[in-house]
Amino acid sequence: MRSADWFSGNTKDSYIHRAWMRRGNPDSAFTGTRPQIAILNTASDLTPCNMHLDEIAQSVKNGIWEAGGVPHNLPMLSLGESNLRPTAMLWRNLAAMAVEEMIRGNPIDGVVLLGGCDKTIPSLLMGATSVNLPAIVVPGGPMLNGTFKGRQLGCGTDVWRFAADVRSGKMSEADFNESESSMIRSKGHCNTMGTASTMGCVAEALGMTLPGLAGTPAADSRLLKASHDSGRRIVEMVKEDLKPQDILTMGAFTNAIVALGAIGGSTNAVVHLLAIAGRAGVNLTLDDFDRLGSRIPLLVNLLPAGEHLMEDLFRAGGLRAVLAEVEHHLDRSAINVMGRPTVENLKGTPIYDDTVIARYNKPIQLEAGIAVLRGNIAPDGAVIKPAAASPKLLVHTGAAVVFESIEDFHARIDDPDLDVDENSVLVLRGCGPKGYPGMPEVSNMAIPKKLLEKGIDDLVRICDGRMSGTAFGTVVLHVSPEAAAGGPLSHIRNGDLIELNVPARTINLKISDAELAARTPSEATLDALAKPTRGWERMYIDHVQQAHLGVDLDFLRGSTGSATPRESH
Ligand code: FES
Repeated sequence: MRSADWFSGNTKDSYIHRAWMRRGNPDSAFTGTRPQIAILNTASDLTPCNMHLDEIAQSVKNGIWEAGGVPHNLPMLSLGESNLRPTAMLWRNLAAMAVEEMIRGNPIDGVVLLGGCDKTIPSLLMGATSVNLPAIVVPGGPMLNGTFKGRQLGCGTDVWRFAADVRSGKMSEADFNESESSMIRSKGHCNTMGTASTMGCVAEALGMTLPGLAGTPAADSRLLKASHDSGRRIVEMVKEDLKPQDILTMGAFTNAIVALGAIGGSTNAVVHLLAIAGRAGVNLTLDDFDRLGSRIPLLVNLLPAGEHLMEDLFRAGGLRAVLAEVEHHLDRSAINVMGRPTVENLKGTPIYDDTVIARYNKPIQLEAGIAVLRGNIAPDGAVIKPAAASPKLLVHTGAAVVFESIEDFHARIDDPDLDVDENSVLVLRGCGPKGYPGMPEVSNMAIPKKLLEKGIDDLVRICDGRMSGTAFGTVVLHVSPEAAAGGPLSHIRNGDLIELNVPARTINLKISDAELAARTPSEATLDALAKPTRGWERMYIDHVQQAHLGVDLDFLRGSTGSATPRESH
């Protein structure tokens, strides 16, 4: 046991480590022979999607004790997507750094990772992978389906829809306000196939959860049983020395990308998977998402790409039923936390409702995985989610309407004199990792009111930021390099023609190379960029990598392991 280095022996130091930890625990707890398991708990009242994780932690604890381990609750930095300004993404890497350092610095042999809201599972996985002690994820699970006036409510997605309906006059402000109390029906994270649901499914496809756990609703008692079982399993994993980097191979990332396509998952998974792979030492690239995932058919009929919600997916058979349909695309060598192939026993997993999970040979949409675009606007790449886009806009040429910041956008988008029509391409810059900073979810810019009133509900939009996994539209995002890093996005001018061709995987500004090379960012563009002078934002801007590399800090890629040779006393 790694923890024996703290607890065994008869020195002054081992006395200190044991004595302070006893606190009524059995004498056998700190003899250096029982696995010490930290439960990395992102419960927080300001992360409402994770409020219930203390209850899950208790079930995990029971399982750890039962299997002979010793559990420790370790509260971790928690990032609440709905509250944090300027964006929770600004602190994903800070949270991952805290996870890494707190695991490494403590007398721990294995970890259980409790996450839910968007950034919590990614940051836990990034940090734990860099330390590489045995680890298992327990996703906190989605909330139950909500309803409003007889129709189903999808978290996030219906907020975007309702806000547009109020602006176009289709919904009254009174109904909009009344719907607010129906939006969140129970404990758990957003119930659409947004980023939290996606990352729960991705964690399982990577092999980092017990098979069949992803998508279990937060309010379902089976989640507590699975949490108990996860506590039991981590103790065995310590004894087997089964570590994240044994599981997180290229095969595991292949399976995650295939799953991402089949479930119609969030584009945010792209930056998170690239960052996790960077920690695991796996050479995953942006192009792998297109190569492995873009031709996977959409099988899951969930908002924002479809109709249903996570509770329906669980009822219809869950992620394993989806994986069974795409089994021939999965890597057979990848293993999970059981030490067994992820594909084991998938065959024959039943689908109980094929209006929620479609058969492979009768998909909801062909080739719906995330597509990677390149061109003179995005030399290092950009992504689009065709499943959430308007098919008629996937090949489109239009004149640019440029916004320097999200504040500039909000100030002008509903100006009746704004030169915009249904063929326009909205361009928003200054929203990348360095420029905002933190790469917020602002890319799905609202449609101008005067177009909404004409029944136009989608436009091609291009941005160096991200988009909420619950959002929809023909949005080209994660443009790399971003405007603040001198990317060509900073050179686009109002009226420039932009050509999007998703089948050809291109996004281009229709000007000559010579003209593009001669352009420089305007003062307005430079003025709109963040200029922090101190603290985390300063460090972040100096070290954050671009979207096509996963937006991790350059010095956090890779792994330094779990060694802590120096004592504290
Ligand atoms: Fe937490 Fe959506 S706000 S998952």
